[in-house]
Amino acid sequence: MSDSNSDPKPKRNLYPNELAEQNHNRQPREDLPWHVAFDLNEAEPGLAERLAANPESESFVREALVGDRILAVIFHSGQWYAMDGICTHQGGPLAEGHVADGCVTCPWHGWQYELETGTQTTSRQPLQAVFPIRQNGTAIEVQLP
Ligand code: FES
Repeated sequence: MSDSNSDPKPKRNLYPNELAEQNHNRQPREDLPWHVAFDLNEAEPGLAERLAANPESESFVREALVGDRILAVIFHSGQWYAMDGICTHQGGPLAEGHVADGCVTCPWHGWQYELETGTQTTSRQPLQAVFPIRQNGTAIEVQLP
């Protein structure tokens, strides 16, 4: 007799490249809830005003734990981006990386990823997962799969 509660396929966490293959689109989805990553006022006094005053020239990067996922949350050229915070190469902290020209560069060995798609700029492969993100008042919210 089979156990109706048993799942025939054991679930496992996706490897980073598998996660990235499924999540290289930043378009919000109707079927996913929004999760608060952090509040601008708690992150840094005056941050919301600073970013709003000069969105094209200001930047901000912060690591955020949302559920069981570590994200690099980035404000760059007037846009918010959410990317898997653990570098696909060897696990470097992307929230400590350098952000310029629409890319973040990992501080450990210099792999560079496009903020929009998670594409690694040398291999042109979508190696780093990216997620929908929005600013809702002073809350920064993300959707996770
Ligand atoms: S761990 Fe990021 S480039 Fe090596």
